[in-house]
Amino acid sequence: MVWLIGNKGMLGNEVCRTLSKNNIDFVGTDSEVSILDFSALEGFASGKNISFIVNCAAYTAVDKAESDIDFARELNANGPRNIARLAKKLGVPFIHISTDYVFDGSASSPISEETPIKPVGVYGETKAEGEKAIADETSDFYILRTAWLYGFSGKNFVYTMIRAMNSHESVKVVNDQKGTPTNCVTLSSVIAKIIGKRTGGESLPNGIYHVTDLGEITWFDFTNEIKKQAAEAGLLTNKNCVVNPCYTSEYPTPAKRPAYSVLDKSKIQKTLGIVLPDWKESLKTFIDSALFDKKRIEL
Ligand SMILES: NC(=O)c1ccc[n+]([C@@H]2O[C@H](COP(=O)([O-])OP(=O)(O)OC[C@H]3O[C@@H](n4cnc5c(N)ncnc54)[C@H](OP(=O)(O)O)[C@@H]3O)[C@@H](O)[C@H]2O)c1
Repeated sequence: MVWLIGNKGMLGNEVCRTLSKNNIDFVGTDSEVSILDFSALEGFASGKNISFIVNCAAYTAVDKAESDIDFARELNANGPRNIARLAKKLGVPFIHISTDYVFDGSASSPISEETPIKPVGVYGETKAEGEKAIADETSDFYILRTAWLYGFSGKNFVYTMIRAMNSHESVKVVNDQKGTPTNCVTLSSVIAKIIGKRTGGESLPNGIYHVTDLGEITWFDFTNEIKKQAAEAGLLTNKNCVVNPCYTSEYPTPAKRPAYSVLDKSKIQKTLGIVLPDWKESLKTFIDSALFDKKRIEL
């Protein structure tokens, strides 16, 4: 039985759907079984025949983390350490989700797993500490670094921009941060594939893997494509909204964002023998899905 921790978050919700679709038996928990409490985790696992642990729980408020350092560290570093310790004790593999924010954004070509990390904010720093904590506790881990996630069940850039375009004459979007938007569906299916291969007895090298959709764009490019696809899907009530590019410096935020965070996905594609979807195709999957939550684009 797979144990999915953080099942009520944006990614966690999608992982639930994917595991069910793949007939993978699982049990899910969220903050009611806190990852900060080792005995609560151990107590929950007891007698359940847990064979795999997946952790989607985290402190994800990037800007708030700058002034909430201790709690961010508890959730992003000590929580994963507790889970990894338990995974080791139970003798089961552990999949954990990390982030492109462990890098400083100074690269200019896709970043491989071997690139030295250098976070520039508290969120990235604490996520990096979480990666290290896991490796200190167990060797049977898969850390999947992802980026720019959007999913059906969460507040995210796609819903926000459609809502903004429907209610404004124009919107300004940063055009000097490059990365790859990633549908939670893509990451969830990679998680299911790893579980499937391992439970099917195949060997799969442990370690860090980069997993996002394919492509390299800015938030401005992403917004233009959202506008186009939302219009095609009949979701854009204000087709005249103008999308203007701007610089990150025009909208200072408490946390610095990496200017370039395109991850190199060749390792995961080669290891699993898959081709990840292109970001435009993934956006279409999202916008055209029956799971697209129209309430989230209402004003
Ligand atoms: N979103 C992105 O763009 C992005 C990008 C790169 C990487 N990631 C990583 O992807 C993963 C999933 O992100 P997400 O956006 O799906 O996160 P999310 O929506 O914020 O979900 C996180 C979940 O963790 C739960 N949680 C908080 N404290 C907990 C605790 N002590 N014990 C157990 N559960 C607890 C939260 O519950 P409450 O709501 O009750 O607090 C929430 O349901 C995270 O590891 C994140 O760092 C995300």
